Amino acid sequence: MVIFAQIFFRMREQDFLPKVYANFPEKGKVIWKAPSNIALVKYWGKRAQQIPANPSISFTLDACATTTQLSYEIRGENTSDFSFDLSFDGKSKEDFKPKIRAFLERVEPYLPHLKRYHFQIETSNSFPHSSGIASSASGMAALALCFLSIERKIQEMEDGFFNRKASFLARLGSGSACRSIAGDLVQWGYHQDIEESSDLYGIQYPFKVNQVFKNYQDTILLVHKGKKQVSSTVGHDLMHQHPFASKRFDQAHENLAQLKSVLATGDLERFIQIVESEALTLHAMMMTSIPYYILMLPDTLEILQKIWRFRKETKIPICFTLDAGANVHVLYPESVEEPAMQFIQDELVVHCENGHYICDQIGLGAKQIFE
Ligand code: DP6
Repeated sequence: MVIFAQIFFRMREQDFLPKVYANFPEKGKVIWKAPSNIALVKYWGKRAQQIPANPSISFTLDACATTTQLSYEIRGENTSDFSFDLSFDGKSKEDFKPKIRAFLERVEPYLPHLKRYHFQIETSNSFPHSSGIASSASGMAALALCFLSIERKIQEMEDGFFNRKASFLARLGSGSACRSIAGDLVQWGYHQDIEESSDLYGIQYPFKVNQVFKNYQDTILLVHKGKKQVSSTVGHDLMHQHPFASKRFDQAHENLAQLKSVLATGDLERFIQIVESEALTLHAMMMTSIPYYILMLPDTLEILQKIWRFRKETKIPICFTLDAGANVHVLYPESVEEPAMQFIQDELVVHCENGHYICDQIGLGAKQIFE
């Protein structure tokens, strides 16, 4: 009898080192559109080299995305530095350059052709720049996909490997970016119950997901559109001496384990409990670090209270999650879209800056627009 076993394997850093190539394309252009994502179990705290302190999982978004066009032209063999120009929404962006340079330095061992080219990076977001929505996830994902596409022109790459390497590279730019490559529900970080899980890249959630989560809606309430006072990088760092860190990391493992049956059965009550608890725990970590800080605003809290009240009164399963800021993501199944939107418009929009909000929903991942 032949036994077919499904082989799962976890890739190592060295698996992403490329072969030695000849035949570099002289010049060309690629365009990728990569989405943003919203975490259900949060990544908060990291070790060296962008390794997460705990596993996380996110819904991939659809409307909120970054489109990046990368034009490249070869400039000779022995060039010792990176060469690139950068524009955002058609305007040159000198202040973004150090971040891109740091990214190029980190990914260079895995993309050794980078210094052979001059690059023109033209990028734009579907959401307004000053919306308070972090563009680092979608931005770094789009950039990683563009750079890796050049390697794919030299060396054929199977889609599964391409996605993993793109996620691996995106992670080096911004942790959450590794969850913006492929899949509607993406998991990142080693977890004992998820055989393929890795600290190095995100994977499409490999277990059964109930139909109710398929077209899940996310209405993003823009409570505060400005820059936040404390960056995520600083926040992650404060987890190093945090008194509750190890308990928090254990809790993330536990919540991810519990989500397995919740996602499979569509148990919305428990889903809501885990997701809201994760959001509040994220902010509790900020409030209990030294120095401590609060990113929620009075309007954020009013929205949360109103959501709880509405849910209790109507039994309509809408809930919230938060990222590292004052904005609120209102999550609900497509089947309750009408009453949920009515409630949002009647009661929540008043708490948004200039009444602004974004209607989004689960998407499938990044798309190549031009090869
Ligand atoms: C609160 O991915 O922005 O959104 O790795 O330093 O770029 P860096 O951090 P970043 O952290 C985002 C954390 C979060 C939660 C999450 O997306 O899981």
